[in-house]
This record gives sequence, structure tokens and C-alpha cells, in this order.
Amino acid sequence: MREVAIVGAGMTRFGELWGQSLRDMFAEAAVGALNDAGADHVDSIYVGCMSGGQFVGQEHLGPLMADHLGMTGVPATHVESACASGGVALRLAYMEVASGMSDLVLATGIEKMNDGADVTNVLATAADQELEVYYGVTFPGLYAMIARAHMAKYGTTEEDMAWVSVKNHRHGAMNDKAQFPGEVTLEQVMASSMVAAPLRLLHCSPVTDGAAAVLLCPLEQAKEYTDRPVKIIGSGLATGSMALADRADPADLDAVQRSARSAYKMAGVGPRDIQVAEVHDCFSIAEICCIEALGFVEPGTGKDAAREGFTALGGCVPVNTSGGLKSKGHPVGATGIAQAIEVFTQLQGKAGARQVENARVGLTQNMGGSGASSVVHIFQGV
Ligand code: COA
Repeated sequence: MREVAIVGAGMTRFGELWGQSLRDMFAEAAVGALNDAGADHVDSIYVGCMSGGQFVGQEHLGPLMADHLGMTGVPATHVESACASGGVALRLAYMEVASGMSDLVLATGIEKMNDGADVTNVLATAADQELEVYYGVTFPGLYAMIARAHMAKYGTTEEDMAWVSVKNHRHGAMNDKAQFPGEVTLEQVMASSMVAAPLRLLHCSPVTDGAAAVLLCPLEQAKEYTDRPVKIIGSGLATGSMALADRADPADLDAVQRSARSAYKMAGVGPRDIQVAEVHDCFSIAEICCIEALGFVEPGTGKDAAREGFTALGGCVPVNTSGGLKSKGHPVGATGIAQAIEVFTQLQGKAGARQVENARVGLTQNMGGSGASSVVHIFQGV
């Protein structure tokens, strides 16, 4: 396999983008990535999107987006793995370059959630229809059950979860692409309206429009496009049970553990080598469970990490320096690529006020649904 690097990145602002269609958001992100690298063509395109069909009535996204980019004829593939669609698109782009099949591949993610669709029900299509959705459960409800399981097993409190939101909003306040860039206090989180007990409004990622794109090429060609390429040194994808009821413990995210194990093995690094990470905090409890599954902290101790500053900027492993899904926003299909852009920017040393000093190795973890799919990438600055 060839070594692969990211050489360019582009993304839209995240938020309610009423003035931009799905294809316009895609074009802004894709052109941004091409311009960043000074590239004028690509050999292949991957488009991560959870549900263009149900959110805006548009499928067949590969050819549509290639056409809109003025690249009709280029192979283009739509990738779907619920909220992990972007991360899986990145993995497929990585594999295509690593295999030697293509040299210049664009990995993108898009989602337009604010366009009149019944968002809660569209998102619920990523849960188990027969065992969960039929009985009326929603994603906030599923993560509330995960939170209850973690609370029962480890004594995690609502306040522990609230600290995750406080930390991520503090980070997001330094990100001009974030949907909710304002800081929030512990008191505001604890007093926000209840969505699915024990999860309140400010424990939840919002409903977001946005697009993100990164350009990949073989490492040996990377200096043609940037003086600061970032190598992808590990990629892991795993699946777990779809329904929470089929898991031994709903708060143990097996797919996250398995995808991390594969990525660490491939990269030849372990959790202690990670200096910056973007982790799938679709709800505050998810960040707590994921940092345990990734091995950043021991099982049961994830609840203390945000409060004690372990995962804050300046801490041992800064997690979600972009603001995470909570503050930056969560346009589901775009999230995995936006996570990669944050780590790319950090390892290039271009993250400005939220820069992690001397960061050389970073990780992204992006999961689908309540954790039935998870994809982990590990990156190294060159
Ligand atoms: N964080 C911070 N502020 C938020 C917010 C969030 N997650 N969501 C909404 N707000 C703000 C809005 O801007 C609005 O402020 P305003 O009154 O000053 O305008 C206010 O809070 C209420 O927003 P509204 O859009 O009416 O909330 P809602 O009740 O329709 O939706 C949630 C709130 C939490 C239910 C919705 O954001 C949600 O479903 N999130 C989860 C999405 C999800 O499941 N994603 C997939 C994960 S697997």
C-alpha cells in the first residue's frame, strides 16, 4: 500500500444555511479543498451523506455533485453509514489512493437538515426499526438510555455530562465555522429544557446544514500541493449491534473499541500517543463513552475528564477543539470530514487560538446511530 496524505481542506460554515442548497454547500467545500491544495482536477470523488433523499428529496448524489463541480465524467460514489457517512467516505478515499488506483481523490461529506423535513423521524431511520423505532424511541431517547446505563454502572451524574458541553462550547467559541460559538455555563446547561431525561437541550448536538471536503494524494506527491501535508497512518472501521437491547451493556461501545484497535494497530501507536482528537459527541454522554472506548481514560472514569480539564485545551488529550458536534454543529453526513479537517488544521499548526502546541499525532472517531458503526482515523504531521 502507498502512504497517503491530506493536502487540502474546505468547509462551509455550519448552521442553518437557508440561502444554500445541498449542491451549493458541496461546491463551496469542494472548491475550498481544491483551492487550498492548488489542484484543478481529481481522479475520484466520495460523497458522504446520510439521507439526501429524506432531508431534501435528492439522491443519486455522486453524479450530481461531480456535475455541479464541473467534473462530469469523474467517478463519484455516494457513501452512507448514518452519522458516520463522512468518516467512511474518508476511509474509502484513503483506500483508493493507498491501493494505487487513483492519485487525487476528494473525500466529502454533506447534509442539509434544515429544509422542512421531519428531522427526528429521518434520523431515527438509523436506529433499529423493528426493535426500537416501532416503539417510538428517538435518538435523544436512545442516548438517554445509554446515559442511564453509564450512570447506573459508574455513578456518572448529569453535572458530569454538562461539563462536556461547557468544555466543547468553550472550544467552539474560537471556531468561526461553528453553529453555536457561544460559551455556556454549567448552570445554563443544567437549567436548559429537558429533551429526553436525563439529556437536556444543551447536552444535545443541534440540527445543522453543512459540507466539508478534504483532498488526498500519495505522500510522495504531497509536496506538489502543500508544504505541510498530513499523513493518514491508521484507519479502522467496525460494526456493533444496532439495537441497544442486543448489547451486553448499552454504554459499552464495542464498535468504537474495535475500530480504534484496528486503527492503532495499523498506525503502530496507542491512545497515549494521541495529542489531539475529534470524538463523536452527538450527545454529551457519547463523548464520555467514546473516550473510554478509545482508551484515553479507564472505563468508568470518562465522567471526570471534562470537569478536570483532561480533555480541555491545555489538558492531556484535548478532545473536540473544534467545539465538537455540540458547539460546531452536526450535519450528520458531513461530520466525519469536518472532524478530519480540524485534526488536519491542528497538525499543520494552523488552528489559531485553539491550537494544541506541538501536536504531531491526532485521531478522529465518527460513529453511526447509537454506535452500530464507528470509524477511526489516525493522522501524523509530516
Ligand atoms: N445547542 C445549543 N442551542 C441550541 C441547540 C443546541 N443543540 N438546539 C437549539 N438551540 C437553541 C436554538 O437556537 C433556539 O434558540 P432561540 O430560542 O434563541 O432561537 C433554542 O435553542 C430552541 O431551539 P429549537 O430549534 O426550537 O429546539 P428544538 O426543540 O426544535 O430542538 C433538539 C432541540 C435538541 C431536540 C434538536 O436540536 C435535536 O434533535 N438534536 C439532536 C439531533 C440528533 O439526534 N442528531 C443525531 C445524533 S445521533
